[in-house]
Amino acid sequence: MGWDELAQAVASCRACSLCSSRHNTVFGVGDRQADWLIVGEAPGENEDLQGEPFVGQAGKLLDNMLKALGLDRRRNGVYIANVLKCRPPGNRNPQPEEVAQCEPFLRRQVELLQPRIILAMGRFAVQSLLGTTEPIGKLRGRVHHYLGVPLVVTYHPAYLLRNLPDKAKAWADLCLAREVASAQAG
Ligand code: URA
Repeated sequence: MGWDELAQAVASCRACSLCSSRHNTVFGVGDRQADWLIVGEAPGENEDLQGEPFVGQAGKLLDNMLKALGLDRRRNGVYIANVLKCRPPGNRNPQPEEVAQCEPFLRRQVELLQPRIILAMGRFAVQSLLGTTEPIGKLRGRVHHYLGVPLVVTYHPAYLLRNLPDKAKAWADLCLAREVASAQAG
């Protein structure tokens, strides 16, 4: 499947029960030749209504973090997606069977994009992509891989909004990701 077919498959997906409560699927946004792929958990209320990832308060913080790296979701260099493409009602945690149905879409996005670095944000995205139950604190600070692509782990921006002191750690994670991305550039 190419990008357009994949986007179409997501838009018409009825593989799990989230399709009955969603307003929009949230495929992803950004440069389809980006070096950076940012992966979050699942759409929240605003994302479900607008069909775009990270458009709420957490998204504003994410945009500022990206800006500090010279990246902009409306320009080149970055693509933003979630593990789940539909909003879990009431923002409940995604269920394992929902992840199992939905993750192939993200896999294909990674295959098409072939980014230099994946930044996985928040416990849920991190644990789903790495297939582990280890907490973020134990996984930060080193390079993992997803489908052969280097992956760096960091806190979710919604968590950072509630835990400002951890912003310094998140900045260190972004710097590690930037180092890995530049090393990939050769
Ligand atoms: N949180 C996420 O993980 N993803 C979004 O798109 C919005 C909030």
